[in-house]
Amino acid sequence: MRVLVTGAAGGVGTLLLPQLAGDHHLRLTDLRPPEHAEGHEVMLGDLADPAFTERLCTDVDAVVHLAANPRPGDDWDQLLGPNLDVPARILSAAARTGVRRVVLASSVHALGGYHPPSARPDCGPIRDTWPPHPCCRYGATKVFGEAAARVYADSGAFSVVCLRLGGCQPVPPTRGWCDTWLGPADLGQAVRLALRADVRFGTYTITSATSAAVFDLDAARRDLGYAPIQSCDTYRDAIPDGPSTMCRARRP
Ligand SMILES: NC(=O)c1ccc[n+]([C@@H]2O[C@H](COP(=O)([O-])OP(=O)(O)OC[C@H]3O[C@@H](n4cnc5c(N)ncnc54)[C@H](O)[C@@H]3O)[C@@H](O)[C@H]2O)c1
Repeated sequence: MRVLVTGAAGGVGTLLLPQLAGDHHLRLTDLRPPEHAEGHEVMLGDLADPAFTERLCTDVDAVVHLAANPRPGDDWDQLLGPNLDVPARILSAAARTGVRRVVLASSVHALGGYHPPSARPDCGPIRDTWPPHPCCRYGATKVFGEAAARVYADSGAFSVVCLRLGGCQPVPPTRGWCDTWLGPADLGQAVRLALRADVRFGTYTITSATSAAVFDLDAARRDLGYAPIQSCDTYRDAIPDGPSTMCRARRP
């Protein structure tokens, strides 16, 4: 499968590329050269340029769209370009060039408004079947990406799997990360499954396992076959305490 990976030089891309290599012919793109690019095609440029995005999407089967501003505390001036304009351009280019599957990096922040248990319909874990409820502007931009992608999936242009990723780090930095931590092997598993799943459109929370169980993974288990092989609990005794990483950016 020929796969375009945007944002390949970023934090998530750097963890993901070694997990995808081997099974896929990768075309990597970013503003700067990615690590782990050996053996892959690299096309550097700005995704805000429609002619460039169309060249990127030509002759690929699937797009893994990672490029974005991932900072929950940022304001609209920093978010509108990378998180609204860029995904719109990528989706549009993918439709014009005959891409068959788009895997969109969304975020648990699309559901972050449910993070305090008092904000939930029940006291159980947060579910992908609930309506989106972002905790911040960044989370709202991720909901926009999901909604924009659904327009294309519904029109039959291509199928879409939105992965609401947890916090991607090689190991959880503090116990506060255990609400959402997503290890590299589970990130790789989720993206590989998302590239091939028999889904027309779906949104799936993806974290590694944790006894904190803030987010429910049932939808990803059922539709993608995702089963985490890493667990935050493995590290719990060896890492320092720290507050939850969710919704620090919450503000009016
Ligand atoms: N980091 C996490 O833990 C996390 C958690 C949940 C979701 N996500 C999502 O995963 C994706 C990747 O996040 P990340 O942490 O790797 O971000 P990052 O900032 O580390 O990497 C994003 C990359 O996108 C590139 N990029 C941005 N705008 C571009 C443009 N106009 N043209 C070309 N390249 C551009 C940047 O150069 C950068 O290398 C984002 O969509 C983010 O919202 C990340």
